[in-house]
Amino acid sequence: MSSLVEAIAKQAQSTFSRCLTDECFAENLTKLIRNVSRIRATDLNFNKDSVCAATDNDGQRPAPVIYIEVAENQAFSMGIFLLRNGTRIPLHDHPGMHGVLKVIQGTVQITSFSKIQLPPGSKPPQDINNRVKGVARDLLIPVEKHSSAILTDRDEPCVLSPNECNYHDIVAVGGMAAFLDILAPPYDMKARNCHYYVPMETKKTDSEAKTWLLRTPPPCDYWCRAAPYTGPKFTL
Ligand SMILES: [Fe+2]
Repeated sequence: MSSLVEAIAKQAQSTFSRCLTDECFAENLTKLIRNVSRIRATDLNFNKDSVCAATDNDGQRPAPVIYIEVAENQAFSMGIFLLRNGTRIPLHDHPGMHGVLKVIQGTVQITSFSKIQLPPGSKPPQDINNRVKGVARDLLIPVEKHSSAILTDRDEPCVLSPNECNYHDIVAVGGMAAFLDILAPPYDMKARNCHYYVPMETKKTDSEAKTWLLRTPPPCDYWCRAAPYTGPKFTL
């Protein structure tokens, strides 16, 4: 009998390996979310202390975030992120990608944004324009902010798409936290490179853009190290 993680990987493969405009896509994605909602740390043989021990004994400074690759091919990637207490994955995007995120350990706070389309020629509020000079203004993105969600392993997965909730940050709350992350197609460091952002506070109430994000270099206090996957083996 196949493991739940294998069933999820196979469902992700059949969901994302065909055209995303396929009439079966929505049905396949719903099946994937339903399977992902059942996964727990034990299904992945995930133990935060073992993962930390596997990465912290080489004399290097411990990374705030550890990544365990479970599966990756051209259609999708599936992995586990472990965030140390109080750390975060800074606000970032998933260009043209779908995502399903399920907490398996601890508690995370996720704040998501969706890009909004403004009429041609629309500009940020003056107080943002005063702080962002010259060509950096091209790096401003108008977004709608969604309310933050506090999630544990008892909550349903978080879902993002190219147009909905594609920007988010993730903070570990009250201790270490981990989540299973499925992204499709995977980042490729070219057309689908990960970019980082900061929200721009504004005193002005813009009639259309609720918030603006400014693209920034990767934050220097965020980096990630890899740890081996020790859960059930499978082939796709
Ligand atoms: Fe993400």
